[in-house]
Amino acid sequence: MSQPVTVTRDGNVAIVTIDNPPVNAMSFHVREPLHARLLELRDDSSVEALVLACAGRTFVAGADITEFGKPIQYPFLPEIIDLIETFQKPTVAAVHGTALGGGLELAMGCHFRVAEASAKMGLPEVKLGILPGAGGTQRLPRLVGPSKALKMIVSGTPIGAKDALASGLVDEVVDGDLLANAIRFAREKAASKATLIAVSQRDDKLAPVRANMAAFDAEIAEVLKKSKGLDAPKTCAQSVRNALTMPFAEAATAERNFFHELVKGDQSRAQRHLFFAEREANKVPGVGKDDKPRKIAKVGVIGAGTMGGGISMSFVNGGIPVTILEMSDEALKRGLGVIEKNYGISVSRGSLTEEAKAKRMSMFKGTTDYADLADCDLIIEAVFEEMGVKEKVFGTLDKIAKPGAILASNTSYLDVNEIAKFTSRPQDVLGMHFFSPANVMKLLEIVRGSKTAPDVIATAIAVGKAIGKVPVVVGVCHGFVGNRMLGARGAEAEDLLLEGATPAQADKVFTDFGWPMGTYQMWDLAGLDIGWRTRKSLGKTAAIGDALCEQGRYGQKTGKGYYLYPDGRTPVSDPEVEALIVEKAREKGINRRDISNEEITERMMYPMINEGARILEEGIAIRSSDIDTVWVNGYGFPVGKGGPMFWAELVGLPKIVERLDYWYGKTGKEVYNPSPLLRKLAAQNGSFADATKAAA
Ligand code: 3HC
Ligand code: NAI
Repeated sequence: MSQPVTVTRDGNVAIVTIDNPPVNAMSFHVREPLHARLLELRDDSSVEALVLACAGRTFVAGADITEFGKPIQYPFLPEIIDLIETFQKPTVAAVHGTALGGGLELAMGCHFRVAEASAKMGLPEVKLGILPGAGGTQRLPRLVGPSKALKMIVSGTPIGAKDALASGLVDEVVDGDLLANAIRFAREKAASKATLIAVSQRDDKLAPVRANMAAFDAEIAEVLKKSKGLDAPKTCAQSVRNALTMPFAEAATAERNFFHELVKGDQSRAQRHLFFAEREANKVPGVGKDDKPRKIAKVGVIGAGTMGGGISMSFVNGGIPVTILEMSDEALKRGLGVIEKNYGISVSRGSLTEEAKAKRMSMFKGTTDYADLADCDLIIEAVFEEMGVKEKVFGTLDKIAKPGAILASNTSYLDVNEIAKFTSRPQDVLGMHFFSPANVMKLLEIVRGSKTAPDVIATAIAVGKAIGKVPVVVGVCHGFVGNRMLGARGAEAEDLLLEGATPAQADKVFTDFGWPMGTYQMWDLAGLDIGWRTRKSLGKTAAIGDALCEQGRYGQKTGKGYYLYPDGRTPVSDPEVEALIVEKAREKGINRRDISNEEITERMMYPMINEGARILEEGIAIRSSDIDTVWVNGYGFPVGKGGPMFWAELVGLPKIVERLDYWYGKTGKEVYNPSPLLRKLAAQNGSFADATKAAA
């Protein structure tokens, strides 16, 4: 293994190179030699300037997140950065790839930053439920100004080299050899003998903002609007504000204290869990390094409806051209029209230029002829959710698709193994289940059939990531991971109303928890008629849901459902619905009573956890963290709670089993019957992660 820190010389310039694959995180085994070498170089009079560079694919991508939550070993990152600031000779960071978090903080400890044109820089700590803890909230405002720093730190979104140059974060952007240019830059600075000012000592961008703190506080209030009950964004903003009101050393100490507080908290633990969960989800048993992804240069999509349109946009947005097939010219025109309208909205909001819109539209080809799909590498079906229709589509695809083409279904519930049987190539068939709106939602459930080839799974993961999705591989069952658990979450929704809850009360329990909306709001958004039709086809009924549909109340699209929508979007409680609930309860002889918020949580969220445990037990999900990734990216489960399975452990598995047992005893309903796995883990004080390890 190569040395994590090496020092080389180019004349009087010393080059310190960090080499800690894969992303040069600032682990203890880097910090220790880095600190020692810097001490030597600071006091070495033969060194006139220092360049700090990295080997491999990126500059330092941050502190080593795996060390969080454990005792941190000396030397600490802030000490190293403070040490660089004491250099009385020019120090230059040579940035390539990404300088993130502690990496950017390290670069800001240098007097100067030289970056490759493709480099990205940012402080994404907020996404891990923390704040930059090595001076980032203090040095970034001094370099780019407090307003821009506030936005960057609270959003966690990195900026490109061009923007970094314009805003003062970097001093030079280079096209050619980065290291050679950084050395040249350092040598020029040494020769110029100009006064060196450490970033912590700069004040020119802070002073004007100090003069109007009320305006800055208004900016803070604006950027925090989307902070969704999370602690980290607020703390980030407070710390940036401190840069304006406190001397550097005092504000830096406060920042460090905030960091230690946040890193211990449940929200940061949850968000770090999700960071690793998303990456773990790419590791699939039976799919190895030898299963090279097939090349996907052209995609076919069948059906230009709600999902087909959004799926097509996702690929085109990711730079892959799409041929869309519909049943008629009219349906095709309608589908392409919706796509064009959606891009038009982006143009009007300023997130897309007219030119980019035209370019994207030129990447769609519409057709009604299957022969036009013959050269596609991947074909995704998004037609009606009926096995008969899927049978016809896959039978035809089998005849026209080129050998090796991947055939995917976007089905929400149907059996992917059965769909694969409609072809003579089940090894090339799988489910690629996108979520609505498909051009926005990040989750991609990849449904692995019993015969799906490993390289087909590898391809689906690779292409999913390439178009910005978060892929999670799941097994075949009704509704896969997400929709199956969603069914369990809503199983008691009708009875809770009959027994005494109101839609507004139950939905508030959800929004207070951090969900973007509650169950009844979600049903109104999706359209109540869909469930009604399904119930009718299965001979099932739901007293309230059916009555609403009989009155033409299909949800938002008809202006009313469980709620009224006077402005088309905002739900308002409707006394008529409450009267309807009371009437239906009376018809059924149910005495309505006060339902507590705890009861709503227990009867909606605990069955969801129970179903998750069953899914894990059956091997439909590979690991519990995959279930968390599904729920956070597909259904808006609050990130600060880490996903349903992580949250269940925070609540305590014994408590969940005890309450499920209680409700099972009272109602006899199967949704409450604790899964054997859940019962076992609760009895052993175990965790879902242990169960995954044991199964592996
Ligand atoms: N610490 C430890 N491991 C890390 C890491 C970090 N900061 N960043 C990435 N890794 C690991 C990943 O877990 C993954 O491990 P695996 O191969 O075992 O699954 C491996 O490095 C490669 O990561 P990706 O799969 O994410 O690689 P990509 O090329 O897709 O992305 C990246 C590279 C953009 C650097 C991305 O990894 C990333 O965003 N990393 C996190 C950056 C970050 O959040 N930095 C701030 C850390 S907190 C901090 O610095 C605190 C400070 O203020 C004190
Ligand atoms: P949709 O009704 O909006 O669109 C279906 C489109 O397919 C229509 O435009 C129709 O003309 C076309 N079509 C039907 N049969 C066809 C055929 N034989 N050849 C070519 N085109 C044909 O339906 P939606 O909502 O887009 O759903 C499509 C699939 O995606 C279904 O399997 C559904 O279960 C699934 N799905 C739906 C989600 C949603 O939220 N709507 C979410 C995830 C999956």
